[in-house]
Amino acid sequence: MVLCYSSHSMEITLKSARRFVEEIPAPLAVVGVWGGELSEAGQKLDQNHRKALSSMMQALHFKGEFGESLLVPLPQKGPKEGPAFALLFGLGKKRGVSLETVRKAGAKLVQTIAKLGFREAASETFLAEKFGKEAASYALAEGALLGGYGWAKYKTSNPSGKGSEKLRLWLARGSGAAVARAEVVAQAVNYARDLVNEPPNILTPVELARRASEMAQALGLEVEVWDEQQIKEAGMGAYYGVAQGSANPPRFIQLTYKPQTASRRTIALVGKGLTFDTGGYSLKPSESQITMKGDMAGAAAVLGAMQAIARLQPPVEVRAYIAAAENMISGAAYRVSDVLTSLSGKTIEVLNTDAEGRLTLADAITYADRQGADAIVELSTLTGACVVALGEKVAGLFTNEPRWGREVQEAAERAGEKVWPLPLEEEYLEALKSNTADLKNTHGRSRAAGAITAALFLAEFTDKPLVHLDIAGPAYSEKNHDLGPAGGTGFGVRTLVELLGH
Ligand code: BES
Ligand code: ZN
Ligand code: ZN
Repeated sequence: MVLCYSSHSMEITLKSARRFVEEIPAPLAVVGVWGGELSEAGQKLDQNHRKALSSMMQALHFKGEFGESLLVPLPQKGPKEGPAFALLFGLGKKRGVSLETVRKAGAKLVQTIAKLGFREAASETFLAEKFGKEAASYALAEGALLGGYGWAKYKTSNPSGKGSEKLRLWLARGSGAAVARAEVVAQAVNYARDLVNEPPNILTPVELARRASEMAQALGLEVEVWDEQQIKEAGMGAYYGVAQGSANPPRFIQLTYKPQTASRRTIALVGKGLTFDTGGYSLKPSESQITMKGDMAGAAAVLGAMQAIARLQPPVEVRAYIAAAENMISGAAYRVSDVLTSLSGKTIEVLNTDAEGRLTLADAITYADRQGADAIVELSTLTGACVVALGEKVAGLFTNEPRWGREVQEAAERAGEKVWPLPLEEEYLEALKSNTADLKNTHGRSRAAGAITAALFLAEFTDKPLVHLDIAGPAYSEKNHDLGPAGGTGFGVRTLVELLGH
């Protein structure tokens, strides 16, 4: 099971080991420490090893704060006696540990091992006694693969001078299925990260469509891409209005996964695919444009999820819709006060060209609905207001159907992604009534409840169960974080795969 995301990522191979430590062929054995004591696996080591580790812990007052580590030489009986070193790895306090602790530990662990210069190590499955072997090895493997991600595609010289580092990590035998699933999911997350990190002059709507098609064809998904003419002729006037100002033409991307067995239901995934958002004539200030190559993170999450779903083959039909476009300024660009006719027939007065996402999504949602979805999940970097409300770590969840909302929220919880419900408050719909058209795209000068009014706008375009995830905060990280480097996070992939990939 060799996974290579791209040449710039750490390449991690996960393998099943026989008896932990004594019999593994790696030079480094990783042993957890929590609550100031060796883990259960550590306690089970033979006496020699255990003594060596305990005395070193005492001598150096090593308590095992989360992520702290200590490299200890192991007593050797002969030349072929297993690992020469142990890495004591801190898991923190016993109180409040969760599978997220294990996931974060996996990420930190591979970074630590690589920094120490090892290319091969074996690790116990942290907290397997507490959470079960399957769940714990899943979290550890997923964390390791996410933590090993890097982005240096456009650096002509690698600062470490080593190029792509290969790391072979041995995990306990018997966790094969969990590890295989973690590989599929983490690869999908890292694929989404790659798409978000790609610069906008490279990843235009045409290029996004090309990559989506390439991925779909390789994995046996159906794919259909419309060009600007087909988008216009289909009547997607709201979407086309946003796209018309750019020299890079839009592409409407549709992917379909059909299960081999009879499908339980058909779910549509819709992702916001603005490959760059300048704001248009309602221009964003320069600093606000800095992260706007990531305005296609919803699309990236949907494509990542489709990749994983194609591999996992769940018994549910999944259709993905991406209205890819670029929001630019030019003589052909749409302006404030323009009236656009959406695919639904509803007319929309543009009060702000920077509220472009909801215009592209309105037509994508109408189309997804008409194609016969039983329920829709839509992901978008939709509003700065949602970042104000929930910050960088938590996505806003809105729904017109509480049961569907709960199903998505529970999937997110199991997947370890943070989402929190915000109300789709009908009383605020008043703010979107226009004197000129059926709707306006923002409520004008007031900034009150900006995330909610955006969600209400989207909900006007379907009567099907709809979940809208506003991922403007968590889709992009300006600093390195526990599960990976600064840049695209791939947020949403894990939730969608947990929701649909079983
Ligand atoms: N893409 C932005 C939202 C965004 C902001 C994403 C910050 C990530 C970080 C979206 O198109 C936008 O500009 N929304 C406006 C809406 C407003 C004009 C009603 C916003 O949030 O300011
Ligand atoms: Zn915008
Ligand atoms: Zn946008």
